[in-house]
Amino acid sequence: MGALHILWKLQLILCFTQFGKYYVSASDSVCDIKTKWRVDCYPETVPSVEQNCESRGCCYKPVMSNDNVPWCYYPSNYASYSLSKISNTSYGYTGLLNIQSPSPKHYGKEISWLSLDVIFERKDRLHFRLRDANNSRYEVPISTPIVKKAADYPFMYDLKLEHDKFGIIIKRKSSGTVLFNSTIAPLIYFDQFLQISTSLPSTNVYGLGERHEDLLIDTNWKRLKFWARDQPPHENANLYGDHPLYIAVEDDGNAHGVFLLNSNAKEIELQPAPALTWRMVGGIMDFYVLLGPTPEMVVQQYTSIIGKPFLPPYWSLGFHLCRWGYESSNNTWDIVKKMRAASIPQDVQWNDIDYMSKYLDFTYDPVAFDTLPNLVSDLHQNNQHYVMIIDPGISDTQSSGSYSAYDDGIATNIFINDSRTLKPIEGVVWPGKTVFPDFTHPAIDVYWEKQLRMYHSKVPFDGVWIDMNEPSNFVHGSTSSCPNNLYENPPYVPHVNGHSLADRTLCSSSKHFKYYHYDVHSLTGLFEMKATSKALINIRKKRPFIISRSTFPSAGLYGGHWSGDIVSTWHDLKQSIASLVNFNMFGVPLVGADICGFSGDTTEELCIRWMQLGSFYPFSRNHNALTSSGQAPVDFSQETQDIMRKTLNLRYSLLPYLYSLFFSAHATGGTVAKALFFEFPLDKIALKIDTQFMWGNALLISPVLEEKASSVRAYFPKGNWYYLTGVFGKPIKTEGEWINIDAPLSNIPLHIRGGCIIPSQYPAITTAESRRNPLSLLVAPDEFGIAKGELYWDDGDSLDTLESNLFMHVLFTLKDNKLTSHVVSALRDEELVLSKVIVMNVHTPITAVYVNNIRETFQIGEFNILQFGCSLNLSKSFHIKWQ
Ligand SMILES: *[C@@H]1O[C@H](CO)[C@@H](O)[C@H](O)[C@H]1NC(C)=O
Ligand SMILES: *[C@@H]1O[C@H](CO)[C@@H](O)[C@H](O)[C@H]1NC(C)=O
Ligand SMILES: *[C@@H]1O[C@H](CO)[C@@H](O)[C@H](O)[C@H]1NC(C)=O
Ligand SMILES: *[C@@H]1O[C@H](CO)[C@@H](O)[C@H](O)[C@H]1NC(C)=O
Ligand SMILES: *[C@@H]1O[C@H](CO)[C@@H](O)[C@H](O)[C@H]1NC(C)=O
Ligand SMILES: *[C@@H]1O[C@H](CO)[C@@H](O)[C@H](O)[C@H]1NC(C)=O
Repeated sequence: MGALHILWKLQLILCFTQFGKYYVSASDSVCDIKTKWRVDCYPETVPSVEQNCESRGCCYKPVMSNDNVPWCYYPSNYASYSLSKISNTSYGYTGLLNIQSPSPKHYGKEISWLSLDVIFERKDRLHFRLRDANNSRYEVPISTPIVKKAADYPFMYDLKLEHDKFGIIIKRKSSGTVLFNSTIAPLIYFDQFLQISTSLPSTNVYGLGERHEDLLIDTNWKRLKFWARDQPPHENANLYGDHPLYIAVEDDGNAHGVFLLNSNAKEIELQPAPALTWRMVGGIMDFYVLLGPTPEMVVQQYTSIIGKPFLPPYWSLGFHLCRWGYESSNNTWDIVKKMRAASIPQDVQWNDIDYMSKYLDFTYDPVAFDTLPNLVSDLHQNNQHYVMIIDPGISDTQSSGSYSAYDDGIATNIFINDSRTLKPIEGVVWPGKTVFPDFTHPAIDVYWEKQLRMYHSKVPFDGVWIDMNEPSNFVHGSTSSCPNNLYENPPYVPHVNGHSLADRTLCSSSKHFKYYHYDVHSLTGLFEMKATSKALINIRKKRPFIISRSTFPSAGLYGGHWSGDIVSTWHDLKQSIASLVNFNMFGVPLVGADICGFSGDTTEELCIRWMQLGSFYPFSRNHNALTSSGQAPVDFSQETQDIMRKTLNLRYSLLPYLYSLFFSAHATGGTVAKALFFEFPLDKIALKIDTQFMWGNALLISPVLEEKASSVRAYFPKGNWYYLTGVFGKPIKTEGEWINIDAPLSNIPLHIRGGCIIPSQYPAITTAESRRNPLSLLVAPDEFGIAKGELYWDDGDSLDTLESNLFMHVLFTLKDNKLTSHVVSALRDEELVLSKVIVMNVHTPITAVYVNNIRETFQIGEFNILQFGCSLNLSKSFHIKWQ
């Protein structure tokens, strides 16, 4: 290697002097790299040709195949950085990297000196970053832990640094599995082009969003791109949000995660080695490696960096209804009244942009929406809530003094500036010409709260839906196009849709208070969520409820997400599952897709199946586009309404469990809904499943995703399972198999896993009412007759109940025919009653049941289901046994 290296350098110098360019011949042994290990040296859109590849000092070898195998790739000895100095610090290492020999300058300005920090933050969390040693560069302004002292030994990882040709190699200590090995390709660090590659221990790679694709990422020369964009979801596109985290499951079932904290436009290239390459056009390389070893623990380690998800108000777990095109408040109100009359659960009514006057934020149409305040007050009287859409674009064409959203923004200078004029940059959105608040501006909170507060005094909304916040712009860059500079036209443009960073958004060189849009573009949604959350807390003094289209790591601290403008198709119905489990990996568990689809017309059958799946979205909202035919439950036949009511009742009955999952996610940073592989990482079939998903570790949801199907071929990982819909209580015992489950139009297959206990509650048409009903426990024993579960409860709407210890937390355990509760934290004033217990698959015969030593009557039903009533104050520990 060393000798070759010198040889190559010699040759390089020779060629350089001879031809005035870098040159490497494909026949050189340094080009002898297996196809699957080739790392692309010419990722530009135009295909490379021999000369321009070789002038980069790369190897050129065409391959005839349908895959995107690069023809131009890095030779094994490509000049990179060497680690010239390394020293111990209290937190780990600090080092200095120097470029070995300058790279061909095809990407502008190369950074010759890099500083390296390796921080042993926790035994399960390693942090390393590479910065410019001489100049400060843009870094993502979100708050992350500052660790000044290394964690105590032992760590779960081993770290090795390659000095000569710099590389970082991270192994899992327990298994020796190489998790990260950057020596497979050169490290590249230009001002506007940064690149690092790593091998992967397996092809089981997940995460990396926002995507509208299958759960398992294709590692066969697949390119993913990240740049917030107003893009109706489809495969291979950069969508609304940027989440640069992947989770990989190693061959032995251990899982780890890698998070790159970088908000610039970027892309990832996956290849079958397996390996992947990160490419970004700015910022620094700021990596976290998370050691798991379970997928759920990876998510908890991830949220230990970006923040744990907020606790949503209980009402927001009810059913939401919306459409674009109600046309009037009276029509909106009619739907609400019809839903009530049909006794179909609904907690929240929404309005899309048609409520506004001329699409102006913080206004409502005084003619068509004349009764909006009355509608909202009627909702409140009926224990229901109201949410409306707000867009970031503020009209700049209203007469002076008539529109405070614009006037106040001008007065406080909070609009994003055009870099040429240092005047607010103008784009076009729904209201016509608009300017855009800088949500990273230090004065934004005051401005934003003032606007929301003024509107709230007229229409007392309960939550805010923030849309178009990529930010979306109907003209390219601005109404006076964009200047020509390195922000608009960087040396390398990732393969984003529209082929330009300013496509459907603002000019990249636009100026925020402290930043260029180039750097903070993909943070627009996150910072708008943050400002909106603060404003809502101050205005309502209750838990904020926000749903945002654009998101970035930390979004889960402030709100939830819906998957945007999907279509009413069976395909999008299926794809919604991967999207919701992905966002749970990203620390945004409150997520859902538009039930029955947004654009296009649904069919009655599709809408039934979607309402069934959607009743298991953590955020459950039926939403429709302007010209699409009606798809609210009450728009359909009586039979269909009955089915939709039934599935929503099922959701409402399971809300105590769903809420407990949210509370636990808030307290521990984990997921609410998850892919099967999260619970079964050793099961090779489960690793690929994205047609089913789970709530917590207990419920398996196997929706119908095909037209005219009356059964589902569902996969059951090893264990005991019990039907909750269909033949209630029927057991399944399996080593892992596909089973056909009956799914007539009226049913969604739902199973509880043996080993779990979940709380449930009689449903009602709002959560305010269902919350007053007594609870039941559903107990599903595993093969040893053991089960566990928990319940979190609080008033459902106050701020900081976790922090103020104003919540109930009860653990339930079944063992040796004895069900006990352990009160970890009790509720003071409110009383919550347990009135019924259902235990699956008990060993018969049973002669007596004792609740706190008092004999209770009971029934044994089909499949040996034991059922009995009780009246227990859940804030007090109890014990129940049977014999
Ligand atoms: C850092 O400290 C460790 C243990 O104290 C030692 O083994 C190692 O050689 C030191 N490394 C450097 C680069 O000084
Ligand atoms: C950059 O930093 C390195 C390492 O500290 C130093 O050797 C070099 O002189 C610096 N270069 C400039 C231009 O300041
Ligand atoms: C890291 O990758 C290099 C280049 O492919 C390889 O030679 C080396 O063996 C790898 N290191 C480990 C520990 O796997
Ligand atoms: C809405 O209904 C109210 C009450 O019936 C009525 O006074 C009002 O004119 C209606 N508004 C519109 C725009 O039709
Ligand atoms: C925009 O430029 C003006 C000067 O024309 C300045 O006062 C203002 O602070 C700038 N706005 C932002 C968001 O930086
Ligand atoms: C339920 O139990 C808790 C905890 O012991 C107690 O504070 C509360 O008063 C009880 N409620 C009723 C109605 O007995």
